[in-house]
Amino acid sequence: MMEIIRTPEELQKKLKQSQTGEIGFVPTMGFLHEGHLSLMERAVKENQTAVASIFVNPLQFGPNEDFESYPRNEERDAEMAEQAGIDYLFIPSAETMYPKEMSIELHMKKRTNVLCGKSRPGHFDGVVAVLAKLFHIVQPDRAYFGQKDAQQLAVIQAFVEDLNFPIDIIGVPIVREADGLAKSSRNVYLSETERAEAPQIYQALKAAEKVFAKGERNPDRIIAAAVEMINRSTTGTIDYVELLSYPELECLETVGQRAILAAAVKFSKARLIDNLILEADQPLQ
Ligand code: PAJ
Repeated sequence: MMEIIRTPEELQKKLKQSQTGEIGFVPTMGFLHEGHLSLMERAVKENQTAVASIFVNPLQFGPNEDFESYPRNEERDAEMAEQAGIDYLFIPSAETMYPKEMSIELHMKKRTNVLCGKSRPGHFDGVVAVLAKLFHIVQPDRAYFGQKDAQQLAVIQAFVEDLNFPIDIIGVPIVREADGLAKSSRNVYLSETERAEAPQIYQALKAAEKVFAKGERNPDRIIAAAVEMINRSTTGTIDYVELLSYPELECLETVGQRAILAAAVKFSKARLIDNLILEADQPLQ
């Protein structure tokens, strides 16, 4: 039976009192879908105890972002987490997580001034702040994150290395709808027409990947292929299409190493992100 726990003190007490063995942890903001479930299933499989959290973290939302309207459905989430085999589901309130204004501020100075970090200043500082708290509360051996949020994964890896958290950060592949659209809690914001167009983001990334596979190593020309297709086949507005080294997220003059091709596209009520990794290991024929 899964237990729902609502305060940090209660969760710490429970974990201390039980024979947990290795702990796997899946932090989420809820409104769960198969993407989240694939992280939970990994955590269940690879650890004796699996903990998941649902917390819409106010610190990582900008003033004009969707904190208030972020979709929530606690009852359904609890059923899905239990089905996935989670032992403890942590659902704290904002008041128990942030009873007063924090005295400390964390700032990630690398890996954050590109991609989503550019249009969401402070976002990743808010992400690492809540994770610092959650990691201390749960003290997991492994924590699971989706490659869908590839920049977040890269930032968290750097954060955990910098501060010596004794936690293995595990990246889990992107789970997609049948038509290729990356699963996201925000997909419910799409209108019918937008939902029909949205898979073109992934198709555009794949078209650009093909250009790369044929031997193109100039980032601008690879990016141009994706931009052209997104503009042609969706009504969305491109926030960015970037090609950077991965996981360092640095600019490349030529794609000679592992790189990420990532896109963010704004629709009327949702901003969608997607990415794929280009492996440049193979020497060109
Ligand atoms: P959230 O957006 O709820 O995502 C929770 C985890 O699920 C993240 O690691 C995310 O990458 C992963 N995920 C989402 N969609 C996925 C998909 N289609 N395939 C695979 N994994 C997917 O990311 C956050 O919450 C927050 O920033 C958090 C880390 C919880 C900190 O507040």
